[in-house]
Amino acid sequence: MADLDALVQAARAVAARAYAPYSKFRVGAAILDADGRTHVGCNVESASYGLTLCAERNAIFSAIAAGAPRPFSAIALTCLDGACTPCGACRQIISEHLPADAPVQIDGGEQYSVADLLPHAFRLSEV
Ligand code: THU
Repeated sequence: MADLDALVQAARAVAARAYAPYSKFRVGAAILDADGRTHVGCNVESASYGLTLCAERNAIFSAIAAGAPRPFSAIALTCLDGACTPCGACRQIISEHLPADAPVQIDGGEQYSVADLLPHAFRLSEV
């Protein structure tokens, strides 16, 4: 069973490192790999706004770059400056890297499954 409290703490810690000078909306995400290790990401914005990388995708991409073993079993999300749930783009990426029944724990409240947030997700059949 995933330690979701610890995962939320990791998300909260990395949210404080967000680079968000434009929105001033700091987000942190943490995912758990198959060895029980945690991988984190924060949002990183750009003066060319569309280049911004969300915290959830940063965490997942960082885990992959680190060679983290799959399956990833849970993701936690902290938004320091207001309430949030993952954006649509991040829901797609989450759905491709975590099982449909994996928990998506929001700091301070709700817990969803991956499928709750993106039912009928797009997938390529050969993956
Ligand atoms: N953001 C995330 O990091 N994750 C989300 O799921 C929603 C939005 C970031 C992007 C941007 O830096 C800031 O929050 C405001 O949209």
